[in-house]
Amino acid sequence: MGPGHGHFTLRLAVSVAPDGIVYAADADADTLDDLRRAADERGIDTLRPILTSRRRLEPPEPVDLIFVSATYHHLRRPVPYFAGARSLLRPTGRVAILESRLEGVAARWMNPHGSVPVECTPR
Ligand SMILES: C[S@@+](CC[C@H](N)C(=O)[O-])C[C@H]1O[C@@H](n2cnc3c(N)ncnc32)[C@H](O)[C@@H]1O
Repeated sequence: MGPGHGHFTLRLAVSVAPDGIVYAADADADTLDDLRRAADERGIDTLRPILTSRRRLEPPEPVDLIFVSATYHHLRRPVPYFAGARSLLRPTGRVAILESRLEGVAARWMNPHGSVPVECTPR
């Protein structure tokens, strides 16, 4: 979710070949066009760009992993967003969220792409 120009997404798409699929769900159509071009240039055929709503994920089938990097802070209501995303996971599916803090060594170049840590209780 939120693949941007594909730093992680292109690598994930390579890693699931030949039988897996990576759905790249982004809310920005131009970004997805760039991503598709980057995949084509590299001969990657396991990537499926999907123009998605900012409010919910809608992959065409349940997935093994929802991977979110530097995008969590874009969500206005992250709790209902991920509550809804649970039903999109396969039974052993996982969610991985990579997000920077607003302070620290990366802050100078990542800011404002970060968020304040919150306590959460696994269910
Ligand atoms: C800062 S970029 C992160 C790119 C990439 N994940 C990375 O780590 O390099 C954020 C991306 O998320 C997309 N985005 C923002 N809000 C979104 C949402 N609610 N649903 C889907 N994509 C979203 C933006 O269009 C952008 O491509």
